[in-house]
Amino acid sequence: MVRDKNIVLGVTGSIAVYKAVEVASKLTQEGAKVDVVMTKAAQEFVTPLTFRAITNRPVATEMFDPVSEFSIEHVTLAARADLVVIAPATANVIAKLAGGIADDMLGCTVLATKAPIIVAPAMDANMYQNQITQQNIARLKERGFTFVGPGYGRLATGEIGLGRLADIEEILGTIRQVLGRRGDLAKRRIVVSAGGTQEPMDPVRHISNRSSGKMGYAIAEAARDRGASVVLVSGPTALHPPVGVEVIQVQTAVQMRDAIVDAAKQADALLMAAAVSDYRPAAAAKSKIKKERETLSIELVRNPDILSEVRGDFVRVGFAAESENVVENAKVKLKGKNLDLIVANDITATDSGFGVDTNRVLIVDRQGKVKRLPLLSKLEVAHKVLDRVVELLPKSRGRMKKT
Ligand code: PMT
Repeated sequence: MVRDKNIVLGVTGSIAVYKAVEVASKLTQEGAKVDVVMTKAAQEFVTPLTFRAITNRPVATEMFDPVSEFSIEHVTLAARADLVVIAPATANVIAKLAGGIADDMLGCTVLATKAPIIVAPAMDANMYQNQITQQNIARLKERGFTFVGPGYGRLATGEIGLGRLADIEEILGTIRQVLGRRGDLAKRRIVVSAGGTQEPMDPVRHISNRSSGKMGYAIAEAARDRGASVVLVSGPTALHPPVGVEVIQVQTAVQMRDAIVDAAKQADALLMAAAVSDYRPAAAAKSKIKKERETLSIELVRNPDILSEVRGDFVRVGFAAESENVVENAKVKLKGKNLDLIVANDITATDSGFGVDTNRVLIVDRQGKVKRLPLLSKLEVAHKVLDRVVELLPKSRGRMKKT
C-alpha cells in the first residue's frame, strides 16, 4: 500500500517530533516518497537536515525560499500527494487548519490538496480538552480528516493525561488503512480467526497449543490494507490489536464459535487461521486441582468444529496444521469442512507454522489444484491467500453498505 506513494508528512512544533523522524524513516524504508513540510516551530526542535537525510528528499520549510524546488509553485506538493499526514499536530496548527488559514507551506498544502489527510495531535492535556480544540477537531472530522490518537500517558509537562502523540505503529497502521481504502477488498467484510483457544481445567490451568496468532493477525492487517472492513476473532495472544481492525477477544473454542457465527452473518469471507482445541475438559474444576494422586485423568469432550458449523454465503478458507501427508490431509479437511480453499502449513519445519514470522504453505482449492509457495513472511502469505480470496468473491459490490 505504501510503496511508491507520495506522502506529505507535515511536522509541527512539538517535543514529539522525534517520533515523526521514525515515521518518515519507516515509510521511506517501505518505499514511499516522503516529502516533509516543517513549520517554523518544528524547526526549533529538529533541523530539516534530519528529515532530508532520512528521506533523501528536500524538506519544505519556507513558501518563498528561493532555493527550494517547491517555492516556484507552492501547491506542487498538494497536487502530487496521495496522502497528507500531520504528525505531530499542535493545537495551534489544528486551529489554523480548521479555520482554513494558509499562511505557511503546510497550511497551503492542506488547503490545496485533494488527498486524504491524517492528523495525529500532540499537546498538553488541558489544551487538548479545551472546547475550542475539540470544536476544531470535530470540524475537521466533519470535513473527512482522519484523526489518530492522542494517547494517554506522560506529557512534556511531566503530568499524566491525554495528549501524547499516538504510537508510531498506530500512525503507520492508520496510514496503511487510509491508503488501502480503494484496494481490491474495499466494501468487503472479512472475518479472520487467530491464535490458540484455551480450555480451562481449573481456575489456573488450561489446555492450549503453540499458536502465537501471528498468521491470523497478518491476514487481518493485509485485508485492512486492501480496504476491507475486518473483524478479527482472537484467542489469547501477546500481539497488539491491529489498528483499524475490530478485535473480538475470546478464550475458548465455544466462545470463538459464538463470536464467529455472529460476525459471519455479514461476511464476504471467513479465514480461519486459529488453532482451535478439538477437545475441552468435560468440566473445569471450581478450585485448583491438588497434586494428591500419582496420576490424574481428565475427561475431555469434543469442541464444536467451527468451520463445519458456520454456514453462509461467503468464501470459506481453512488452515491446516500438518506434520505428515500435508497435501492428502489438507484435501480431506477441505472436503470435510466444505471449504473453498485450504492453506496447509508443514508444522515440523522450524521456519514455518507455529510462533515464527515466516511460513511455507501450499494452497489447495475445491478442484484439488495445489499451489506451493516458497518460504515467505506471514504478511506475504496473507496477501497471497487474499489474492485467491479476491478471485473467488462475487463481482457484486460486497456486503458493506458504506466504506
Ligand atoms: O498462530 P501462529 O503461531 O502464527 O501459527 C499459525 C498456525 C500454524 C496456527 C496457522 O497457520 C494454522 O495452521 N492454523 C490452523 C491450525 C489448525 O487448527 O489446524 P487443524 O488442521 O486442526 O484445523 C483445520 C481448520 O479447521 C483450521 O482452519 C481450524 O481453524 C479449523 N477448526 C479446527 C478445529 C475446530 N474445532 N474448529 C475449527 O474450525
